[in-house]
Amino acid sequence: MKKLRLGFNVDHVATVRNARGGAHPDPVDAARRALAAGADGITAHLREDRRHIRDADMRRLKDEVPAPLNFEMAATAEMAAIALDIRPHACCLVPEKRTEVTTEGGLDVIGHAAALKPFAAKLRDAGIRVSLFVDPDPAQLDAAVAVGAPVVELHTGAYAHAEGTPAFAAELERLRVAAAHAARVGLECHAGHGLTFANVGAVAALPELVELNIGHFLVGAAIFDGLDATIGRMRAAMDAARR
Ligand code: PXP
Repeated sequence: MKKLRLGFNVDHVATVRNARGGAHPDPVDAARRALAAGADGITAHLREDRRHIRDADMRRLKDEVPAPLNFEMAATAEMAAIALDIRPHACCLVPEKRTEVTTEGGLDVIGHAAALKPFAAKLRDAGIRVSLFVDPDPAQLDAAVAVGAPVVELHTGAYAHAEGTPAFAAELERLRVAAAHAARVGLECHAGHGLTFANVGAVAALPELVELNIGHFLVGAAIFDGLDATIGRMRAAMDAARR
């Protein structure tokens, strides 16, 4: 099976930095270290309220880190202007509510298709790869094709939250069916949200997946084991699941 790419989400390095208002810890330094330890790309979410990543971080991640940058953002005019200026490798469009703690659900591509189609076209015309963060629902994947997105990222949050409950197997099955459907309709398939050492294996084993984006757990685990060891262990868990 083809190697699965690991995208390290540096948002919560910025969360810790912002707690004291200075420059430490630096998400750009963390990005470089993660790449040296086995990550393949960097993900960062510029939220409307700038609660973790800030505009200057995104610029530095693009200019100073020698790896593909996946710019997570809401599909707003403000974010489109920033993305078109920074020109990351990819933009992952996510729904965003100011009051949420994290991205709670996938994008309703079906409901917002009329707006998403020209939005995605503008990014694509600038050479940016567009990804849509969606729940593992084949109808949403078909809508992603219709709006012209080449990539989807499956929301693994429901799967992660179901760990230890009877719903876990059904959530994994939803991911399996969705990943197979994505490949069938020609979408490159990524996944992420809530992934840990304990739950990553079953997801990483889905053969259609090309990339996982993982943040919060890795930053938390790095407090205990260090970033290099944590990234290395996640890399090994993903590789083992592909064998
Ligand atoms: N992918 C997307 C689209 C996300 O919004 C997030 C959270 O910012 C992640 C992946 C990473 O999730 P986690 O931090 O739970 O690993």
